[in-house]
Amino acid sequence: PPLARILSLRDMEVVARQTLSSKARAYYTSASDDEITHSENARAFSRFFFNTRVMRPVARCDPSTRILGFGSSIPVFVSGAALAKLGHPDGEANITRGASQTGIIQMVSSNASLSYSEIMAASAPSQTLFFQLYKHANDSIAEQRVREVVDLGYKAIFLTVDAIVAGNRERDIRNPWELEDEEKGIPTYWSGGDAPEQEADGMGTAGALIANDDRDMTWEKTIPWLRSLTKLPIVIKGIQCVEDAVLAAEAGVDGILLSNHGGRQLEYSLPPLEILYKLRLKRPDVFDKVEVYIDGGINRGTDVIKALCLGATAVGLGRPFLYAQSAYGTAGVVKIVEILRREIVTAMRLLGASTIDDLRPEMVNASAS
Ligand code: FNR
Repeated sequence: PPLARILSLRDMEVVARQTLSSKARAYYTSASDDEITHSENARAFSRFFFNTRVMRPVARCDPSTRILGFGSSIPVFVSGAALAKLGHPDGEANITRGASQTGIIQMVSSNASLSYSEIMAASAPSQTLFFQLYKHANDSIAEQRVREVVDLGYKAIFLTVDAIVAGNRERDIRNPWELEDEEKGIPTYWSGGDAPEQEADGMGTAGALIANDDRDMTWEKTIPWLRSLTKLPIVIKGIQCVEDAVLAAEAGVDGILLSNHGGRQLEYSLPPLEILYKLRLKRPDVFDKVEVYIDGGINRGTDVIKALCLGATAVGLGRPFLYAQSAYGTAGVVKIVEILRREIVTAMRLLGASTIDDLRPEMVNASAS
């Protein structure tokens, strides 16, 4: 269908599902076990309702913000997701160009299907790219990767900590996990001769991609190691409870991304919106020490606004960007950002907020009653 017919992120997903190969569809859409956490990630948003305010001036409405000090046209960023080329030959570059045209920030996956320099080359001069780090078990191999992306000009490191092994994604596992190098040219650790040393059999595409990653990371060891390599902001991606949010803040990182990897890792991990809500109730001090973000199940402007009311600085989206670039390339990416922007501005105005700072915890209720 023509792009003008796409009115929502769900519309985009429907088109993408029809156009993706069965392997790409399985890899992109799959989640762990019975996919309960995956569906609850989205459903959690329907448990929070607005405390709508009226008679406030909203003719001027500005949804722009800053993430780790970098400007963003809306409080939304691209959460790093692997293998964009499975859906479209231009892969991650579609997202880079779409992010540039709409003024948002892209976090590039360690398992991107273009090289980190090719993605940087697709960016505009002043564009901000963040990097998602999967830490190799071998510190010096991991160090090379960090130095490479720092040199290339990536502006922050998001260290993923929720994927030390792959979750049990059965729809993905049913497909062969070998990625044909000539087909994808994926610069992962294990392709090009660096075969997995740890077991990966039966773990699908995801298991193969992270088979050489560090399963012994700790707050005491890993954060100082990373800090010693770079002065860039460090964000921990994959915090799933209040206790670890507190430990991350104490470890001196710059941000935490509350995330269960889009329901692809531990089944029955809490939806990020619920973690955010608990963190706000139990440890509001954490929000003063680190920037807090969430990702998982975000599809609407109202989802974004609820997370911001509860204290998030911004939210990440994973699958929606993969779907958009798969279905329409760069134009698809631009389209979903435009949809989100319109939905965010509409929701802010109807809620009585004209700037991001106006979004406050008292503007959401934890249930309809
Ligand atoms: C991911 N995600 C992910 N995370 C990460 O840190 N490194 C990665 O390489 C990937 N790869 C990846 C591939 C695919 C196909 C998906 C769907 C997800 C997780 C991603 O960053 C993000 O946390 C979730 O996608 C957020 O959930 P939604 O927006 O997809 O619901």
